Amino acid sequence: MKQRLLFARAYEEDALLRIPKDARPQFPLTPCVGWMNDPNGFSYYQGEYHLFYQYNPYKTEWDDMHWGHAVSSDLLHWRYLPAALAPDEPYDADGCWSGSAIELPDGKQLLMYTGIRKLNRSSEEALQVQCLALGDGLNYEKVGHNPVISGDTLPEGLSPFNFRDPKIWREKDGTYRCIVGACDQEQKGRLLLYRSDDALSWRFESVFIENDGRFGLMWECPDFFELDGRKILLVSPQFMLPDGFEYHNGNGTVCLIGDTDGSGRHFAYTQHQSVDYGIDFYAAQTLLTPDGRRVMIGWLQNWDACQNGRKDQVWYGQMTLPREIFLRNGRLYQRPLRELEQYRRSRVEYKNISVGDNTVLRGIEGRCAELFVTVRPKDPEKLFQKFSLRFAQNESFRSSLSFRPHERIVKIDRKCSGSRRAIIHQRRCLVPNANGELTMRVILDRNSIEAFLNDGEQVMSAVIMTDQAAQGISFHAIGEVEIDVVKYELDLGEA
Ligand code: FRU
Repeated sequence: MKQRLLFARAYEEDALLRIPKDARPQFPLTPCVGWMNDPNGFSYYQGEYHLFYQYNPYKTEWDDMHWGHAVSSDLLHWRYLPAALAPDEPYDADGCWSGSAIELPDGKQLLMYTGIRKLNRSSEEALQVQCLALGDGLNYEKVGHNPVISGDTLPEGLSPFNFRDPKIWREKDGTYRCIVGACDQEQKGRLLLYRSDDALSWRFESVFIENDGRFGLMWECPDFFELDGRKILLVSPQFMLPDGFEYHNGNGTVCLIGDTDGSGRHFAYTQHQSVDYGIDFYAAQTLLTPDGRRVMIGWLQNWDACQNGRKDQVWYGQMTLPREIFLRNGRLYQRPLRELEQYRRSRVEYKNISVGDNTVLRGIEGRCAELFVTVRPKDPEKLFQKFSLRFAQNESFRSSLSFRPHERIVKIDRKCSGSRRAIIHQRRCLVPNANGELTMRVILDRNSIEAFLNDGEQVMSAVIMTDQAAQGISFHAIGEVEIDVVKYELDLGEA
């Protein structure tokens, strides 16, 4: 094992002793120490779930990408393993960027990632190539014939400086495919399809899908899989323009629902949507559980809103909760992983509560909690103007989810969450017109909210770095609103 990886592993061991458990969220994974961005290699391997991540152990800022590593038997209790990859070869000397993982028939785990090498020290441009490492779930060796896909395979006009994030899968006939993000000289994204018989040597197959300019520029971090009889492409474009109430985040994750043609070499979509309508969500990856559920995890952060770290914290960045995904009425639906229900404690329930301008309900508070709120007009003939749920609240702070049925808008707002930076603090999403009725399932963890609206038809997520003393939850109405509320504490307990 090379020096850089050994050094990172020793640094991690020391850091783990220094970071108390309650300085981290309960459920979402945070980096062992330092900085985390995209989930990588999210997969099931020999009886355990593996989640790697983009990782700079040494600072709470993006730099010098390694692959961090954690495993879990239930996707909720994570155990850190030593860093899996460090940038220590000529072809990846400036970073081991995002990628995916798969189990090979001989029982080895294969990591496929993007190696980065700057042309010279001061250069902004870096060559991006696709590389492999083979391992046993703990230690990995980069293969001798890396890089296995380099810029010379690119169709004419595509840039070797934007060529990254391979997603690998195995076809039913035992051959392998991967798709890799790329872009042309105008920065318009593409996904390229490659093929291999043994997962070790690769050849270019086709342009899998071309970004027609509708979804931003460069396409990052693709995932591709079957779901309920359709093919799903998740991709995270950079620099999107808003389209109605979709794609407000500039850098966000798009779900394209479609099918491949008979040859399997081209993908076309019939529907598209944002995956998350909140503030923080990017670079999602999925896996299939042994019992057949498709589970997605994303980076609970947004590149444009990263400056909300705390000076006293030696880690930065977190993942979302694992979410089960499925299709209904041509849309992607999401629900929190069902195993989370085992960690519910202290149920509190209220029915038919009339909401005033400041309604506080006994037993409804806390920062690690699950809330089900059903909102409806008190008189079905009379729509109210506004309903809001405030959380992470005390005299100094609050965040909220509000609903204006006339406009059909749900808004998430964290401007009073304690952030001192002028980053984005609000997002809106358009919900179906259901006569003023809305259901919200809200999961609060120490630093986050993930709100599943109308049974997961739309999800809004955000990081909130609010002081933990702000434990309040309250309800507010303009007009006549009635709600039912069920609340649980969420307690992961000991692993
Ligand atoms: C997306 C991304 C990827 C890249 C990685 C680098 O967030 O920019 O395209 O591989 O992060 O850390």
